[in-house]
Amino acid sequence: MYNDHGQIEFYSLARKLFYLFSAFLLLIIALSSTVLLLRSNPELFTTATTSAENWNPKNIEEYEGTVSDQIKEGYFLISQSPDAMGPTAKNIKHRFTGNNLTCTNCHLDRGTRIGAAPWVGITERFPQFDGRSNKQGSLESRINGCMERSMNGKKLADDSRQMKAMIAYMGWLSEDIPEIRKKDFEGFAKLQIPDTAVDLNKGALLYTQQCAVCHGANGQGQRLPNQSGRYQYPPVWGSDSYNNGAGMHRVLTAAQFIKGNMPFGIATAANPVLTDEEAFNLAGYINSFDRPTISNPQLDYPNKKLKPVSTPYGPWADTFPPIQHKYGPFPPIVAYYRDRYKISKTK
Ligand code: HEC
Ligand code: HEC
Repeated sequence: MYNDHGQIEFYSLARKLFYLFSAFLLLIIALSSTVLLLRSNPELFTTATTSAENWNPKNIEEYEGTVSDQIKEGYFLISQSPDAMGPTAKNIKHRFTGNNLTCTNCHLDRGTRIGAAPWVGITERFPQFDGRSNKQGSLESRINGCMERSMNGKKLADDSRQMKAMIAYMGWLSEDIPEIRKKDFEGFAKLQIPDTAVDLNKGALLYTQQCAVCHGANGQGQRLPNQSGRYQYPPVWGSDSYNNGAGMHRVLTAAQFIKGNMPFGIATAANPVLTDEEAFNLAGYINSFDRPTISNPQLDYPNKKLKPVSTPYGPWADTFPPIQHKYGPFPPIVAYYRDRYKISKTK
């Protein structure tokens, strides 16, 4: 019995050792082949996360044959606005925008550029609350905000062919955006609000050095060589520019746009050229000149407490002077709304 028993124990121990050894061997094989595979094909191991991090929005120019006519029309409207729905449209009834800007003069790279209020993912972000009208706002009414102000023109009907086409284009841009990238494709570059007021002299000097080469010393930009409505370099003030009710006419919004996008072709939101203060002084400078005006500015922001601090026209829910709302310093105004109304303002 004892002997038998001892033998059984020996065999079972040997078997256990064998299994253990085999498992160890398999582990070594698995590990070393993983290392080998990783060395020869590193892309096999890029996770879904890294590919989402490197995701880029579609460029419609590369999808000519595959997108619908409606999407193509939307692209025509937002990229060649003067001819498609503005002063140079062949059919007078199709003239809705009032200046010769094109939507993509501000929403750069076909509305896909980070830091230039991109439209990628936008169809999911609307409807959203709109302080300017103090109610839930649709994407249609947001577009009309830019039609009436940035483009100094007229509203489009929600069910018009043009409105539907622009939204179809925006929807197409938004189609496959990865969840983790949605925040990247929103709004403008961050800006630390300077403590000081705009310095117009510094703004003027910077404008001459950094901007005049394209936008002209007189701010009137430069038309495309064929003299059609569109600009090669759009005007930044004057009668063919955005009007005083536009977001770009607020110094803080313009500073954010300028910081992330200008000088054109060099600055990006991730790698700006100008400091926050320089962008701020430039924003004040271009907005110090005359431009078209909206007809009933006092109706904006029915709840005056929600008015952005750098909205340059009254009335406001505070007693800071108009010039301070136009040029700052803004931190005292921001502090006022925080302390008095518990409202935190960033623009
Ligand atoms: C002069 C510059 C300018 C032009 C031209 C312009 N926009 Fe805008 N647009 C802006 C600014 C600035 C904002 C953000 C406003 C704000 O923060 O209040 C904006 C916001 C938007 C938004 C909302 C973006 C978001 O993320 O919530 C949409 C949609 C939009 N514009 C569409 C258009 C369309 C369509 C056109 C052409 C018909 C156009 N814009 C022309 C400057 C411009
Ligand atoms: C190399 C030429 C170039 C330079 C330099 C340049 N811009 Fe621009 N800017 C452009 C172009 C081109 C656009 C329109 C972008 C588009 O349509 O893709 C633009 C658009 C703008 C816009 C929005 C559209 C409008 O006209 O309202 C503003 C504001 C602006 N630039 C301000 C500035 C400021 C301020 C500077 C100086 C820091 C500057 N730019 C320097 C070429 C330039």
